[in-house]
Amino acid sequence: MNENIKWHEHSISLNDRRKLLGFSNKVLWFTGLSGSGKSTIANEVAKNLHDKKILTFVLDGDNVRHGLNSDMGFSSKDREENIRRVAEVTKLLYESGVTVLVCFISPFRKDRDFARSLIGDDFIEVFVDCSLEECEKRDPKGLYKKARKGEIKDFTGIDQEYEKPNSPEITINTGKESIEECAEKITQILS
Ligand SMILES: Nc1ncnc2c1ncn2[C@@H]1O[C@H](COP(=O)(O)OP(=O)(O)OP(=O)(O)O)[C@@H](O)[C@H]1O
Ligand SMILES: [Mg+2]
Repeated sequence: MNENIKWHEHSISLNDRRKLLGFSNKVLWFTGLSGSGKSTIANEVAKNLHDKKILTFVLDGDNVRHGLNSDMGFSSKDREENIRRVAEVTKLLYESGVTVLVCFISPFRKDRDFARSLIGDDFIEVFVDCSLEECEKRDPKGLYKKARKGEIKDFTGIDQEYEKPNSPEITINTGKESIEECAEKITQILS
């Protein structure tokens, strides 16, 4: 860190913004295999919360890779940098008072723990649990098919590891529970 760069204290704090918005915001960090349902559930939860007049923002892996992280690939090293940047963006959004729903595969425990360390107690890890077989059957983007043919390298669950969370705050099993059931479970914990 350059010693000439000094932190400027803000005149309005997170607590001030929370009072304005009327809600104590959180970060929901969805992790799970591709096709497990992170984006689907996060958007459903966002709708539920929005209906309750809670301000939300969904930060979605593919969307962020279109812009801020368009220079990132899928090697372990790039995934780490991808998540580091996303964690920092999550922190900025969180500081703004918004309830942030983050949906990235985020396969590595240490990267998720880094995000947790930036947010603290308001970090809620949501493990979107779904078997590889079921995700592969769904294959909503046709990516598993390509990965099996060797057309995509470093694909989570195929030729790169997914490290399950050790103690997530919430686990939903999208192979057993419906989209609405999963979303309702999370919404209830938040409200
Ligand atoms: N109970 C369920 N919960 C969530 N999704 C479900 C469920 N049952 C079926 N699905 C379907 O599974 C697919 C999940 O895809 P989705 O894009 O949400 O996954 P993702 O985890 O965001 O994947 P990626 O990491 O590739 O972005 C959708 O087509 C969704 O309709
Ligand atoms: Mg998604």
